Amino acid sequence: MSGPTLALRDVCVSYGKIEAVRGVSLEVDAGRIVTVVGANGAGKTTLLNAAMGVLPASGSMLFRGRSIADDPIEARVTAGLSLVAEKRELFGTMSVEDNLRLGAYTRPRGERPGDTLDQVYTLFPRLKERRGQAAGTLSGGERQMLAMGRALMAKPAVLMLDEPSLGLAPRIVREILHLVAELRATGVAILLVEQNARAALRIADYGYVMETGTVTLQGPAAALANDPRVIESYLGAAESAA
Ligand SMILES: Nc1ncnc2c1ncn2[C@@H]1O[C@H](COP(=O)(O)OP(=O)(O)O)[C@@H](O)[C@H]1O
Ligand SMILES: [Mg+2]
Repeated sequence: MSGPTLALRDVCVSYGKIEAVRGVSLEVDAGRIVTVVGANGAGKTTLLNAAMGVLPASGSMLFRGRSIADDPIEARVTAGLSLVAEKRELFGTMSVEDNLRLGAYTRPRGERPGDTLDQVYTLFPRLKERRGQAAGTLSGGERQMLAMGRALMAKPAVLMLDEPSLGLAPRIVREILHLVAELRATGVAILLVEQNARAALRIADYGYVMETGTVTLQGPAAALANDPRVIESYLGAAESAA
């Protein structure tokens, strides 16, 4: 198959008179990590919600070359898009394993959930250890693993992650992003949105910098991490942090 797995072209999203996303274009390929970095309020979450069909948007959205711009959220999920939202909504009183099994509910193809569960447990051994534990009793990092694992149970072609590092200690951030990097090998296309530009650019293949609703810079992640404009605005402090 040719072309990107997901391509957004000139996407605009407004909340009433506020234009939160203004003409954003980006592409994500299978087995690649693309990151969108930017400060709080830049429009990152709005962009992901628009791609998922949660918010109305203008512009074109192609999934494997086919337009999904007019598809409702359910159709995008069935097609293979998955969003791990910033809030990591889990069923706190249910076990880790039951949360994971719920993730398989939207699975489009005829695969057996048990096979995927084994794959998720291989990626996240910590979740296997805690399979019978109530999700509400997990640590912040484990909750993020569970949210990602649940999304993977649907066997998505595109995994969108909204600030998986948010609220986690630096050591846990490294662990979570290392796991995201490992997901690349499964062939899923990953769209990673992060305020933590340093950590995101370290694992990504390609990056976009978003400022007040528009993309101001883009390029290979390593080049962005060495770009003086990015260093000054996003990587300036704490050279050795996270
Ligand atoms: N539900 C909403 N209603 C009105 N404005 C919103 C809403 N959600 C977000 N915004 C505004 O849209 C802009 C982008 O927000 P958001 O996408 O959450 O940014 P980010 O995820 O990069 O922090 C901000 O100015 C924010 O205040
Ligand atoms: Mg956000």
